[in-house]
Amino acid sequence: MPVLAETLEMPVYVVTAATGQLGQLVVRHLLHRVDADQIAVVVRNASRATHPAEHGIEVRVADYDDPASLAGAFGAGDRVLLISGNQFGARLTQHANVIAAAKSSGIAQLAYTSILGGPSANFPVADDHHVTEQALLESGLPFTLLRNGWYTENYTSQLTAALHHGAVVGAAAPASRLATAARADYAEAAAVVLVGAGHENNVYELSGDTAWSLEEYAAEISRQTASTVPYRQLPPADYEDFLAGLGLPTPMLSVFTATEAAIDRGELADTGGDLRRLIGRPTTTLAESIAAELAELTSR
Ligand SMILES: NC(=O)c1ccc[n+]([C@@H]2O[C@H](COP(=O)([O-])OP(=O)(O)OC[C@H]3O[C@@H](n4cnc5c(N)ncnc54)[C@H](OP(=O)(O)O)[C@@H]3O)[C@@H](O)[C@H]2O)c1
Repeated sequence: MPVLAETLEMPVYVVTAATGQLGQLVVRHLLHRVDADQIAVVVRNASRATHPAEHGIEVRVADYDDPASLAGAFGAGDRVLLISGNQFGARLTQHANVIAAAKSSGIAQLAYTSILGGPSANFPVADDHHVTEQALLESGLPFTLLRNGWYTENYTSQLTAALHHGAVVGAAAPASRLATAARADYAEAAAVVLVGAGHENNVYELSGDTAWSLEEYAAEISRQTASTVPYRQLPPADYEDFLAGLGLPTPMLSVFTATEAAIDRGELADTGGDLRRLIGRPTTTLAESIAAELAELTSR
């Protein structure tokens, strides 16, 4: 009888950082695939998890920084998505805390949002991901590495500024290319690997179907806004001054210029198709993402 009960028990699909932009989208995609009582979210602030709570999703409170709180965050057999934290440096320990808690709880799968290219991604944002991937492999847990490329929203969220300045400003060369995808595309892929079979111990290099250049990006904004918005490449030092003028914290300035250099090396331009294959449809195009952001700006 206990064997039968165990066999029939459905896994719980657990999303950490579910109050963030990616996490919210993953939860929405999970709701399309499984019942709400099969989903749980792990958040550090329950008052920000109103959407999951309203849908009958279990809300578990834990902070990546607090191992004691994480001890109750996972259950045996859970299929867990660890969404990487947003505090560089600090997130190394945070991820280690989550992996340790997941390991002692006996979860069935730990999927992790890493960086496109994994160990070959050679820029500061990737460093914490390299170490976390290694920790996950060494944990012995069934893992899934979701090596996410750049979100298109990293660019489109700056559309207002580009229109204000009359230019898209960066340090990468105008012809350098990126194969971005919409945040929602990556979120759907995460939901797919949690609920689907056979994704354990797999690595996915996730990126958009088409690599676009920065001058093409500026040209598409110009076309959709019927204005002239060129791409303006600045020397790295001038670009850092520009970012400082926008209010970016000083320690992040070199991180941004190093990422521009990685873009020049083609490190975010992979179009291998793993994302399209996981979600079973083409990834959201650059033009669609620009149109969506412009529509959002107009509706405000
Ligand atoms: N590939 C890319 O282009 C790209 C771009 C941006 C970010 N990222 C990475 O992808 C992750 C998700 O992106 P996003 O857009 O959803 O970021 P986001 O909107 O900034 O969300 C970050 C999430 O992390 C949670 N969090 C932060 N510190 C935590 C802690 N100590 N304990 C528990 N939860 C914590 C936040 O919780 P609260 O709601 O309580 O703050 C929030 O839910 C980011 O954290 C970052 O690692 C990737």
